[in-house]
Amino acid sequence: MTLRQRGAFFYLFLFLCSRNAWADVEVTMHKNIEVYLGDSVEIPCQYKFYEVDGVPKFVMIQWFVVKNAVTRARARIYYGDDQHQVVDGDTEYTGRIQMTTDQHGTKLTIKKVQLSDQRNFICSVNGLSDGTMERKTYLSVFAPPEAPIIKAVQAGISVTNEMPSTVAACQARNGFPQFNITWYRNNIPLVPSAGRVKVWTGETVESSGLYSAHSTLEYKVLKEDKDANFSCEVSFYVPGAIRTVESISVGITVHYPVTMVELWRESPAGLIKEGDTVELRCQGDGNPTPTFIFSRAREDGADEDLDSRGNVLMLQAVSRRDRGLYRCRLPDGTSHDDVKGEMELNVHYLDPAVVVPKESEAMLKGECLTASCNALSSLKTSMVWYKDSKVVGEGNMLHLQDATYETAGEYVCEVTVPALPTLHTNGSVHIVVHGGPQLVGEEQEVHLKAAVGKTVNLSCEARGHPAPRITWIFDGCQNWHEVFSKSGDHMTHSVVSFAVDSDISAICNTSNDFGIDVRAFNIKAIPLVSSSTHFSPAEGSGVIFVVIILCLLLLGILGSVLYFLHKKGKIPCGRSGKQDISKEKTAKDDIVMEMKDNGIAKSEDAVLLNAVNGDKNGTNEQ
Ligand SMILES: *[C@@H]1O[C@H](CO)[C@@H](O)[C@H](O)[C@H]1NC(C)=O
Ligand SMILES: *[C@@H]1O[C@H](CO)[C@@H](O)[C@H](O)[C@H]1NC(C)=O
Ligand SMILES: *[C@@H]1O[C@H](CO)[C@@H](O)[C@H](O)[C@H]1NC(C)=O
Ligand SMILES: *[C@@H]1O[C@H](CO)[C@@H](O)[C@H](O)[C@H]1NC(C)=O
Ligand SMILES: *[C@@H]1O[C@H](CO)[C@@H](O)[C@H](O)[C@H]1NC(C)=O
Repeated sequence: MTLRQRGAFFYLFLFLCSRNAWADVEVTMHKNIEVYLGDSVEIPCQYKFYEVDGVPKFVMIQWFVVKNAVTRARARIYYGDDQHQVVDGDTEYTGRIQMTTDQHGTKLTIKKVQLSDQRNFICSVNGLSDGTMERKTYLSVFAPPEAPIIKAVQAGISVTNEMPSTVAACQARNGFPQFNITWYRNNIPLVPSAGRVKVWTGETVESSGLYSAHSTLEYKVLKEDKDANFSCEVSFYVPGAIRTVESISVGITVHYPVTMVELWRESPAGLIKEGDTVELRCQGDGNPTPTFIFSRAREDGADEDLDSRGNVLMLQAVSRRDRGLYRCRLPDGTSHDDVKGEMELNVHYLDPAVVVPKESEAMLKGECLTASCNALSSLKTSMVWYKDSKVVGEGNMLHLQDATYETAGEYVCEVTVPALPTLHTNGSVHIVVHGGPQLVGEEQEVHLKAAVGKTVNLSCEARGHPAPRITWIFDGCQNWHEVFSKSGDHMTHSVVSFAVDSDISAICNTSNDFGIDVRAFNIKAIPLVSSSTHFSPAEGSGVIFVVIILCLLLLGILGSVLYFLHKKGKIPCGRSGKQDISKEKTAKDDIVMEMKDNGIAKSEDAVLLNAVNGDKNGTNEQ
């Protein structure tokens, strides 16, 4: 009989009520009593004498323990009668038991129950002639084991292993009687089955007599076990019941092959342009994470492997040459060829704008010109033309019609990509308008009146390209000089100044390669009678008067001739008195200086006559 077979999880209150035919005494005991290790336990033993009205003359009570279940060898541990109650000395119970006795029975109390106390205790009642009988109680001792300790295998377990692999080990110590270990996966018991689950259990008896057990779980791992929880549980008997204690849950590392690979762009978001740094990432569903090989499909169809770091491929400063089909795959031979990630990478670009005509273009006045602006791009572009920061056109064509000098200037074509605003460029063309001089202002002839002695400014401004030359032709006066001169890309401006001493006619002759334009000025001198004293301090220098008279005379004659000729539109070129300002400037300046030294030039009362706003009456005296 094993302990387990004798064990029971219910109390036996079976009183044996049978009566021996030859005995007049009846002894009653529990068949089994269960107790925790270390506790105290009471084992009662009741008796009754029938023939002597329940009260015999002499009763002797002895308690024995069975020392050997096979030989049934027994040892007495207690003796009691009318006179003596003796706990036998030198037994394992000496000092550990107590006896309580009354008329109907006796009760054995064992303190600090030990494992060795699991045995039969015999109560023997002897009334000599009144009868003799003995009964026994089996004492069962229980010690719950410590909580089980589980340890999962640390290394990864591959699903490709053909046989079940060791997954975890479980240990529970110091229990009594023997106990069981059960394995659980996600709280469902794992029942051993061929090729799937195998459990190895071992049991040891500690020096204390308590049992310790360990169990190893072998298990055929599947991919879904990567998230599974494994635990073990001990089940053990306690007085009247079975109890269980579970270990903590542990997970295992499952190694499984890659079945799917994904390749995607991590950054930047949106459209990619040349110069961007692009980060591609690859991820597979396998464990452990494999090292991927990145490649790009070349034009000829072959894959070109690329340098990558882990599962990241960085493409620095991409260009349009980096466009194409990118792939990531596992090292050759580790998986099927079709397990790979793919993605198309597009890199957008915008080439520098090309404006036709290039750089600089000359137009003739009145001409038309269409300029075009083109910038090669992978995306739709939008063009706006600017001149002097003002929008002058949209689209890739710019039409310049009927060119004037205002048409001249810098035209910038600004190219943008609406879908990718960070892409933009520009190009420009410089338009030059060629044409003959064109004087600013309407009049062909300007008539002025000025008081004698006053200083008069004549202004002449002409548009044209190349910049017109301005030549002044004075009749009857040699004291004029240029006080202002400016020449730009499309204009020339000259102001001359002189003191009025008599009627003067002057011609502003502007010319360039494309033509000429002239304007005549007629200045009528108004004699100043009251201020003639101004001239008296001229120290009687008759020369001045002679000059003045000569001037007046010459002016009179030449003026009428010029006027006559001019009216007929036939001013002859290269007349005497003509001065090319640009060539004879220094000489003229000298003249001015000389005249000033003579005290003739008077500049406080001067009139600037701007031809643009020129007054028909011509005189503007301050
Ligand atoms: C495993 O245990 C963890 C924590 O104990 C829990 O969050 C998880 O849901 C469990 N998994 C399963 C499949 O029961
Ligand atoms: C241990 O397992 C055996 C065999 O399955 C069973 O008979 C016994 O009752 C179990 N003991 C406990 C304490 O669960
Ligand atoms: C044209 O492009 C140049 C160089 O890219 C830039 O410096 C300039 O500001 C641009 N001009 C305009 C009008 O956008
Ligand atoms: C004006 O200048 C041009 C070029 O120098 C010359 O050919 C022309 O004759 C001049 N006209 C007059 C009226 O002086
Ligand atoms: C004539 O022009 C000169 C130079 O621009 C200027 O200094 C002077 O004041 C002007 N004279 C008159 C009368 O406008």
